[in-house]
Amino acid sequence: MKKSNNKLRPVFHITGGDGWINDPNGLVVFNGRYHVFFQYNPYGTSFGAAHWGHAASVDLKHWESLPVALAPGDDGDADGCFSGSAIAHGGKLWLLYTGFTRNEGGDTERQVQCLAESVDGVNFKKCGVVIGSEQLPQEYAPNDFRDPKVWRHGDKFYCVTAARKIGGGGRLLMFSSSDLTSWEFVGDLFGKDCRGKMTECPDYRDGDGLLFMSEIAPPPDGNTHLNSSTTRWFYGALDHTTGVFRVADEGICDYGFDFYAPQSFADRPVMLAWMNMWGRNNPSSKYGFAGMMTVPRRIEKVDGKLVQSPIVGSREVVRKIVDDTFKDNVKTGVVDITATGLKECEILMRKKGGAYTKLSLVGGEWVFDRSRSGEPIVGDEKDPDSLANIRRMPKLDRDKTHIIIVLDEFSIEIFIDWNALSSTVYPPLDADELCLSVKADACEYIRSEIV
Ligand code: FRU
Repeated sequence: MKKSNNKLRPVFHITGGDGWINDPNGLVVFNGRYHVFFQYNPYGTSFGAAHWGHAASVDLKHWESLPVALAPGDDGDADGCFSGSAIAHGGKLWLLYTGFTRNEGGDTERQVQCLAESVDGVNFKKCGVVIGSEQLPQEYAPNDFRDPKVWRHGDKFYCVTAARKIGGGGRLLMFSSSDLTSWEFVGDLFGKDCRGKMTECPDYRDGDGLLFMSEIAPPPDGNTHLNSSTTRWFYGALDHTTGVFRVADEGICDYGFDFYAPQSFADRPVMLAWMNMWGRNNPSSKYGFAGMMTVPRRIEKVDGKLVQSPIVGSREVVRKIVDDTFKDNVKTGVVDITATGLKECEILMRKKGGAYTKLSLVGGEWVFDRSRSGEPIVGDEKDPDSLANIRRMPKLDRDKTHIIIVLDEFSIEIFIDWNALSSTVYPPLDADELCLSVKADACEYIRSEIV
């Protein structure tokens, strides 16, 4: 790849080196550090030659970039080391990932599940294919079988993978193993097709019964699930003997333009996702990179629903009671607004002249508008909201409204009353005005800088 001399990057979000990144993979705590791997193409700023990039942190706030963990080219993974997961066991770190072989393309492509091991958590040795097409029941397509998420339950290992029923749609399949090496099929989690074309990147949290499922080409539901791929959460009960998952509650993970393939740490209630979307242009390519992760998010179950809050290292620098309007300067940092009896609200972010990103309360819902944000982002979506560069999020009916906005170079993540909305934006690099206008019984504004 042509190296870019201009190395502009987000300040505190994970990106790879030069190149392209997508899905987070293998989130795990090993030897006292949080490890995040991710899909990485070091050769260009578009998808290709899937490697596993690697970053680690002791506090989930400051990340050290580590050498590439997996590169394609071996048995089962000739053309890509696709997404997967990690587990610490017997003093080693194990990666269970999808090996991709292109063959002649289409139906001849093969996706199999491979294993790799490491003693130091940095250098990995491949162990080869452990769930091949032979372990996949015949009614599922061997060219759409990927993204294993592994966990331990009792004295066995289990994994859930994305799959596709031949002549049907996306499924989630469960396999079990007593040693991570030989696996057998257990069952089909939902026993029916997903709503979109194909599932991807499942993540299951055994302790909480929380399942994340990403899905290609979902049917829109009103003004939600408009992105070309979406992610749903489910709380429920998984039967480890049959593989059947009974859903108690479900919802959308994020209302924004750019959020996909979330993964979580098994033993920490922390999740992060790819903050980008398939089928869009990437204005950051000119800086030599495309794609980044969301900030790590604390996840909890409140009244049966998934609630996310950002984990960022920040120090308060401005605190103010806002009567009506207020102006500040913030390019990267965290803004925290608490309003009681909120009636009207408009927030312009990363503003410079006529360029800004707007969050406003319109007709009882939050409207996020990136039509004037800066460099245009054009995607595959053709619905009116997408063409207008708009995303909407419900406003909960409560006396106190709590808004947290995390701003970094090229992204805005918004958390309001337990819902999240994440999007990339490409404003002028020096755009830093924030204008808040609000009508409420009381409103407090706090800005923190990232430390
Ligand atoms: C999801 C996905 C996965 C696949 C990976 C390849 O974004 O399509 O299903 O393993 O990306 O990079």
